[in-house]
Amino acid sequence: MSDAFTEAIDALKRGDLYRRLRRVDGDQGPEIVLDGRKALNFSSNNYLGLATHPVLKKAAQDAVERYGCGSGASRLISGNMVLYEELEAKIAKLKSAAAALVLNSGYQANVGIMPALAGEGDTIFSDALNHASIIDGCRLARAKTVVYPHCDVGYLNDALKSAPQGGRKLIVTETIFSMDGDEAPLADIVAVAERHGALIMIDEAHATGVFGPNGAGVAAQLGLAERIAVQMGTLGKALGGFGAYVGCSAALREFLINRCRSFIFATALPPAVLAAGSAAVDLLYNEPQRRLALWHNIRALREGFRALGFSIDASESQILPLVIGDAGKCMAFAELLLEKGIFVQGIRPPTVPEGTSRLRVTAMATHTHEHLRRALDAFEHVRKQF
Ligand SMILES: Cc1ncc(COP(=O)(O)O)c(C=O)c1O
Repeated sequence: MSDAFTEAIDALKRGDLYRRLRRVDGDQGPEIVLDGRKALNFSSNNYLGLATHPVLKKAAQDAVERYGCGSGASRLISGNMVLYEELEAKIAKLKSAAAALVLNSGYQANVGIMPALAGEGDTIFSDALNHASIIDGCRLARAKTVVYPHCDVGYLNDALKSAPQGGRKLIVTETIFSMDGDEAPLADIVAVAERHGALIMIDEAHATGVFGPNGAGVAAQLGLAERIAVQMGTLGKALGGFGAYVGCSAALREFLINRCRSFIFATALPPAVLAAGSAAVDLLYNEPQRRLALWHNIRALREGFRALGFSIDASESQILPLVIGDAGKCMAFAELLLEKGIFVQGIRPPTVPEGTSRLRVTAMATHTHEHLRRALDAFEHVRKQF
């Protein structure tokens, strides 16, 4: 049996698709110690730098002192911690939603919510570049799935028109795409959804904290929040902690408590995580300068890459993909960057489509001008070697 695993691993290595864990000593700041080597971190979703914020640390420490380390059981079994109530009230306000429900992670949210909302006789319409957790949510749901070409609202409209009558129609899209950094045409999606009586579920994992008033996300930025049934997002990226949420109606929240299996059958989040999440939402309002610093760095990086001749035109966010194409070349590029002290992860299939392996550069509010300059210098240098 172990031979079969070894063979599978060897095949991955031959195809340049082998993955390994790298050791990190220390935190997820802009400077990182990776496999014992110091590097600048351009590979983290800690966009606002909140993962190391003293206010989050203190909130987590206080919660441990007051409530302990674990939550005991699922929320329906051992009771709903008051910390959940506080966090959900804050998220509902941020998202201009009537209610919110916190889930254990973005992955669990997507694989739980989608089967709860769409079953036999229903149709899910999913963007071709949606995250793996959404793809798995489609697989778990017993509904028919129509995968529409990336951001192609014309195709989506036609597919909605020819969907079977009677069943529920659920459109699912990220608002900021995790590996391309581009933005979904949300206003157009809302228009076609309303025309065809479809529900919309958005995944704002990479938009929350970065886009919109107080970092409320793309839906809020466009004034569309109230027209979207399911506003999902995560607490582990710009918000610096862990977990996920859905902003929705009070009735949908109640429905999910009764029907979302990844909510029902999982131990609740620990108190420290909930308290850190709450503190992070407060910081979105209290420290807007972090968002400004992030956007300053996004612009500087984008201009820097353009000046070097890299094509990143589709990106509209802190996620700047430099598409290399071939998986082996992409990883070799990343390795040379690391030798120059710049950590950027190469992203390969199946995370991205075949032939589009890329260096996924992410900007953080906590990068200094000097960090950006060193990164751009390294890119220029390595590119010449290629
Ligand atoms: C778009 C998107 N949705 C969902 C997830 C899953 O969230 P989590 O890491 O909280 O499980 C991720 C990334 O991890 C993501 O990029």
